[in-house]
Amino acid sequence: MLREVVEYLNPKPGKRYLDGTLGGGGHSEQILIESEPDGLVLGLDRDEEALSAACQRLQRFGARLSERQASFAEASEILATIGWQAVDGVILDLGISSHQIDSPERGFSFRGDGRLDMRMDRRQELDAERVVNTYSESELERIFRDYGEEPQARRIARVLAVERKNKPIETTAELAQLVARAKPGRGRDHHPATQVFQALRIAVNQELVEI
Ligand SMILES: C[S@@+](CC[C@H](N)C(=O)[O-])C[C@H]1O[C@@H](n2cnc3c(N)ncnc32)[C@H](O)[C@@H]1O
Repeated sequence: MLREVVEYLNPKPGKRYLDGTLGGGGHSEQILIESEPDGLVLGLDRDEEALSAACQRLQRFGARLSERQASFAEASEILATIGWQAVDGVILDLGISSHQIDSPERGFSFRGDGRLDMRMDRRQELDAERVVNTYSESELERIFRDYGEEPQARRIARVLAVERKNKPIETTAELAQLVARAKPGRGRDHHPATQVFQALRIAVNQELVEI
């Protein structure tokens, strides 16, 4: 939806834009192109890897792009520190980037195998392994139901609570298998663990609180 988003934002020279979810830098790049020669963008992302990839991609725009590793929830403080009183447009492209999903070691996906991590900001202590292994069964059920709209939330929480007594659940593949076991015969059009992974990601990154 790059074209539609930028059309609505309608970037113009001399204006200032906040990209609260810089990610791979695709939206910011288009804003910088359309606001040539002197439109400015402040790009934020919680993910250090995303930020450095975006900075590399957008190097040619020089000082027209400022970037910070931060949550968009901190935007007003950061705007104050760089001396911007106001912005002319804001974009939030919420969710997860393809880079995050495609990197098994980030632990976001049931495809591939990696440690259960799911932190967008890796300076944060709470990760998915801790949520899965230390949250109460009823809290896990609530997370799967409220953040994943998972109809089998209770069953899945039960299976995880029983399994983790034998051995901590440490990897994305282990979790995906346990969820699939709790939902036999389900998920023909998508992986049975899709909603559980989404729910855990939202819980680990406190995404609703940030919004
Ligand atoms: C869908 S991607 C953005 C893609 C980007 N618009 C592009 O054109 O490449 C979402 C990004 O938002 C970041 N993110 C998620 N929650 C955030 C938050 N509260 N503050 C800042 N960045 C956040 C993620 O780390 C991820 O890089």
